[in-house]
Amino acid sequence: MISFASDNNSGVHPKIMDALVHANAGHCPAYGNDQITAEAIELFKHTFGQDAKVAFVFLGTAANVLGLKTMMPTYDGVICTDVAHINQDEGGAPERFTGKLFPVAHENGKLNVNKLSPFLEYVGNPHKVQPKVISVTQATEYGTVYTVEELRAIAQFAHQHGLYVHMDGARLANAAVALNCSLKALTTDIGVDVVSFGGTKNGMMYGEAVVFCNPELAINFSFIQKQGMQMASKMRYISAQFKALLTDDLWLKNAQHANSMAKYFAEKLSKCSAVTLTQPVEINCVFSRIPAILIAKLQSKFSFYVWNTEAHEVRLMTSFNTSKDDIDAFIEQIHQLS
Ligand SMILES: Cc1ncc(COP(=O)(O)O)c(C=O)c1O
Repeated sequence: MISFASDNNSGVHPKIMDALVHANAGHCPAYGNDQITAEAIELFKHTFGQDAKVAFVFLGTAANVLGLKTMMPTYDGVICTDVAHINQDEGGAPERFTGKLFPVAHENGKLNVNKLSPFLEYVGNPHKVQPKVISVTQATEYGTVYTVEELRAIAQFAHQHGLYVHMDGARLANAAVALNCSLKALTTDIGVDVVSFGGTKNGMMYGEAVVFCNPELAINFSFIQKQGMQMASKMRYISAQFKALLTDDLWLKNAQHANSMAKYFAEKLSKCSAVTLTQPVEINCVFSRIPAILIAKLQSKFSFYVWNTEAHEVRLMTSFNTSKDDIDAFIEQIHQLS
């Protein structure tokens, strides 16, 4: 079945698979003390800045939770949107292992810096959880992208008031493509402190990186990573994938392809009278409203998520290996069924 369910549902890019096979030769030191990991770390420094520190974990949820944990004791809290993955889709892990979340109503998936000041009233009051981190998702859960200026305003607000900035960058590569700027320009240069940089959604088998653009925050991370059960003994297999992803701009090419397929999808859908696009199409997903009866019929042939049942809003997601033929087949079905 053709799938537009998630970039998590796609397979592994052949170059990543080759890298895994290549890494499989012989024995080498465990827990990240191997040559492949050293080379991957160098590539991260090249990408995010020479001072950046990085650690590799298995899951996006772990990258978020452990990255946040480095910035806050349990009496501190995280400001995020109500639709943030950390708030909606991580099974309470952030609250369980870090502290309270302060969800703020999103605007097209984004956090509006002008809505953050009320939290400052809690500062210094021991009866209140202390706001300590602002977490933004770039690109957002609605497929929208913060501009550099919007991010800079959030980082300035945070740092002026003694807060840190965390970025859930599960789809940061797609955001960088949308904005046509480097990963460093979207993170380190803006003042983001800790980034969860996604690999799995962009062609890897598994693996995410916790990037400390603020290197002081990394000092105790190895202890947090171990207690958080994310210190892989055979680390070389995550490192090898990241090494391949950051070589010859594979991360960029994969994200470019995925984003361009979403644009193609949106163009085709906008010509279907039964369909209304509901969000700007900036990365590799298309949100649209489709009549319920049509959704049910389409779902018997294609897999995709209904995002908002009442509004008949669906999310159609493309990935590094989505083809125009996949999309054309979907559009053809809509024409046949409507
Ligand atoms: C915005 C966002 N953050 C993080 C994640 C990572 O989640 P997981 O723990 O499933 O790897 C996802 C996965 O869907 C995501 O969409």
